[in-house]
Amino acid sequence: MERTNTAIVDLLNSREFNREVIVKGWVRTRRGKKNINFIALNDGSTIHNIQIVVEVNNFDEELIKAITTGASIGIRGELVPSQGKGQNVEILAREITLYGQADPAEYPLQKKGHSLEFLREIAHLRFRTNTFGAVTRIRHAMSFAIHNFFNEHRFYYLHTPIITGSDAEGAGEMFRVTTLDMKNPPGNNNGGIDYTKDFFGKETNLTVSGQLEAELGALALSKVYTFGPTFRAENSNTPRHLAEFWMVEPEMAFYDNEDNMDLAEEFTRYLVRYALDHCYDDLEFLNKMYDDQLLERLRFVVDNTYERITYTRAVEILEKADSNWEFPVEWGVDLQAEHEKYLVEEHFKKPVIVVDYPRDIKAFYMKQNDDGKTVRAMDVLFPRIGEVIGGSQREEEYDKLNHRIEELDIPKEELWWYLETRKYGTVPHSGFGLGFERLMLFITGLSNIRDVIPFPRTPKSAEF
Ligand code: 4AD
Ligand code: MG
Repeated sequence: MERTNTAIVDLLNSREFNREVIVKGWVRTRRGKKNINFIALNDGSTIHNIQIVVEVNNFDEELIKAITTGASIGIRGELVPSQGKGQNVEILAREITLYGQADPAEYPLQKKGHSLEFLREIAHLRFRTNTFGAVTRIRHAMSFAIHNFFNEHRFYYLHTPIITGSDAEGAGEMFRVTTLDMKNPPGNNNGGIDYTKDFFGKETNLTVSGQLEAELGALALSKVYTFGPTFRAENSNTPRHLAEFWMVEPEMAFYDNEDNMDLAEEFTRYLVRYALDHCYDDLEFLNKMYDDQLLERLRFVVDNTYERITYTRAVEILEKADSNWEFPVEWGVDLQAEHEKYLVEEHFKKPVIVVDYPRDIKAFYMKQNDDGKTVRAMDVLFPRIGEVIGGSQREEEYDKLNHRIEELDIPKEELWWYLETRKYGTVPHSGFGLGFERLMLFITGLSNIRDVIPFPRTPKSAEF
């Protein structure tokens, strides 16, 4: 059969009837009457299947028998208005090509309604489910929307490195990259490993963030963003953490933290609206199957502004709250998921941006406030998810940044190039990082981050 098949989504939307079409895809079901069979076919272009009407007598009996759930077929036939309920169009089959069978006795997706946990164990096949098809299409649409948004706002897409020699967040949660023989590594004089013998002649890791390099770009091109994979070896086995996740990081020269928050708000609202406008069928499905408040919640975010409060105010609210915290709150501690949830879901009942966090719980690069205690950080907290964005105004003053790097004992040889940008033509600037899978959790209404990325990497798990 020719390669020129039409995507099912286009056929379902078509009203040009009585023409010959070719479709190819995977069988969801085949229902039989004696003379007529109905095949529900899906090719991943939409959550909906197209119905193929087969006059059994026109085809080889063995061929029809082999068309079971999961089999891959091509159909040449006539597109006609449907007689039955549930669809507007259907295809009367003239020619059928069987590409691959799927033995009903063994095919794991023979029946509908598997748990998401089970589907994780068959990640190689879960693309074929309605849920994962929807997630994959939404992931695509969100990626596309991100590039669209920044392109429209004159940001340049900057490819920042995946292998780095610095720890951008200073949290020491990095995966090492090495070609040394780990069974017999070259030693140095201090009983350690001699990394000058390693591939790059120094210690290198997978990046935890593209921010530092994005700053270099912003200090020439004014507005840039990176969108790539980042890696964190934090041992958090939670529904919100991955060891490999995608992050969107815009960085803007001449933006203060207010401008930064305005952008974060406009950006996230744009993405939610884009999903409602372009992924409605998939969202409707997810709303029906997993979270009947999903659409309502998405519309709420589009229609309302976010609350903005200081960390100090947030702590006051949490201290007064009538809750039994697992992690007690006092000024100076980092906010935990339970606290973020309380602020967003119980207290304000809308997305919240928290600013001016204590200096000691945030990264070295953040702009220091005059109070000597806080930095110009901002975290965006979303319902059900908690932190979806972390960002800040950056410290652009050479002396202050240099002092902070020394205070924290960060090796200068890792960061001399970053410091130099504060020596030559430094400007106030700001940026943030959006956790792409956290956004996907919000958009899809699913509750485990392992279900919104095709191949999740988590502690003790990297099978597929
Ligand atoms: O708050 P984080 O650590 O900020 C940064 O890395 C900054 N360099 C960003 C910047 O200013 N350019 O991470 C940013 C976001 C978080 O808000 C969260 O949404 C997501 O990345 N994130 C994770 N997502 C999944 N799994 C993890 N382990 C994550 N850690 C952070
Ligand atoms: Mg953060």
